Amino acid sequence: MSVKMWAGRFTKEIDERVNDFNSSISFDARMYKQDIEGSIAHAEMLGECGIIDKSESEKIIDGLKVILADIQSGKLEFDPTAEDIHMFNEAELTARIGDAGKRLHTARSRNDQVALDLRMYLKAEIKEIEKLVRELTETLCGLAEKNLNTVMPGYTHLQRAQPITFAHHLMAYAQMLLRDLGRLEDTYKRTNIMPLGSGALASTTYPIDRQKVCGLLGFDEITQNSLDGVSDRDFCIELASAISILMMHLSRFSEEIVLWCSWEFKFIELDDAYATGSSIMPQKKNPDITELIRGKTGRVYGDLTTLLTMMKGLSLAYNKDMQEDKEAIFDAVDTVKLCLTTFIPMIETMKVIPENMRNAAARGFINATDCADYLVKKGLPFRDAYKITGTLVHTCIEKNLTLETLPLEEYKSLCDTFEEDIYDAISLEACVMQRKAAGGPAPESVMAQIGYVRRKLDEKA
Ligand code: ARG
Repeated sequence: MSVKMWAGRFTKEIDERVNDFNSSISFDARMYKQDIEGSIAHAEMLGECGIIDKSESEKIIDGLKVILADIQSGKLEFDPTAEDIHMFNEAELTARIGDAGKRLHTARSRNDQVALDLRMYLKAEIKEIEKLVRELTETLCGLAEKNLNTVMPGYTHLQRAQPITFAHHLMAYAQMLLRDLGRLEDTYKRTNIMPLGSGALASTTYPIDRQKVCGLLGFDEITQNSLDGVSDRDFCIELASAISILMMHLSRFSEEIVLWCSWEFKFIELDDAYATGSSIMPQKKNPDITELIRGKTGRVYGDLTTLLTMMKGLSLAYNKDMQEDKEAIFDAVDTVKLCLTTFIPMIETMKVIPENMRNAAARGFINATDCADYLVKKGLPFRDAYKITGTLVHTCIEKNLTLETLPLEEYKSLCDTFEEDIYDAISLEACVMQRKAAGGPAPESVMAQIGYVRRKLDEKA
């Protein structure tokens, strides 16, 4: 175990178990690049403000660049006994360049350093998640365009309700994903604020230039209060929350895919490359990906709960509890990326089976509302039309017929208003075509929805 930086204050070495317990390097090492880039910007600022010599600042920057290259090439390995990535990088720098390295931490604390690193790390992750969400949304628009006329039953209570198209159903998810993108963009704005210079909690007495560091690292602005600068983890909570909602959407979609590829539905067939078999039942083809996404959604909710609970009782400013933020937010980010990366090609390669959707739409009397509307258009009050249609459905069930196959005499026996044109009015295609109100399932309306989503994606690009 290396000698602790804070050894001067102590008369004993740290207990090995405490060292392990305290250490975060096993999970914060992934921020090594952000830590080094942040330190480079800090050193440059210290040099320019005359807080340390220019020559020392340059030495530090060169040293840090070599450390970064060595980590990236695998030449330098992380010391598992180091307290965290910040201590590791600083100790390594000092070991390499000597005294100049000891000046890097001037006017800085690990408290503002870790806040900076985490913001930098998550900014890049948010952009990656946005890219994947965008890709999935584009995939859905493409698939919808091919299925504008693919009639399927729409459901409430998982009971066949009214006819829609597969395109209409897919575009509902595109809307959810657009909102997800909005939430991610919003989170990004509040992550893109630069905390360095907050010091441990009370800023610093050195004449630092925070705007300089802000500009060098590509942040929008600096944090406005040093206590808040080191205590704020709202950006993690917001991100975990945006990811939780996104996962909830993926989970609902997954649940539908589980249903759709069952023999009971068979609306779609997953590509062999995106399904799994059973170790005992030779006939099985299981939608494991979607089930895992459903399952992992719970895990991401757990990450959000961890963060919210971790923060709720903390007095200002930094408390070590906050070290627990990283595993939770990293897990949420990793999980959603993993899910999206698998989900997108699974959707792209799945086979749609329009006949089965059409057959399911033909049973279940999903045109009953249209039958009632037919009578309304001919002058009957809706409640009367509703009652007559209910009776017709009852007759059909008794006679094992559908509204399409029920003879006109049966219709007429209940209400004289029915004519031959009832069959056109209740044809599933007509039922869909007539629902052309904005947002509805008629092909022209869904095409407009696709156009809307693509325009929004373009605006965001
Ligand atoms: N490893 C710590 C964390 O992740 C870094 C900050 C430590 N600060 C301190 N005062 N102990 O939160």
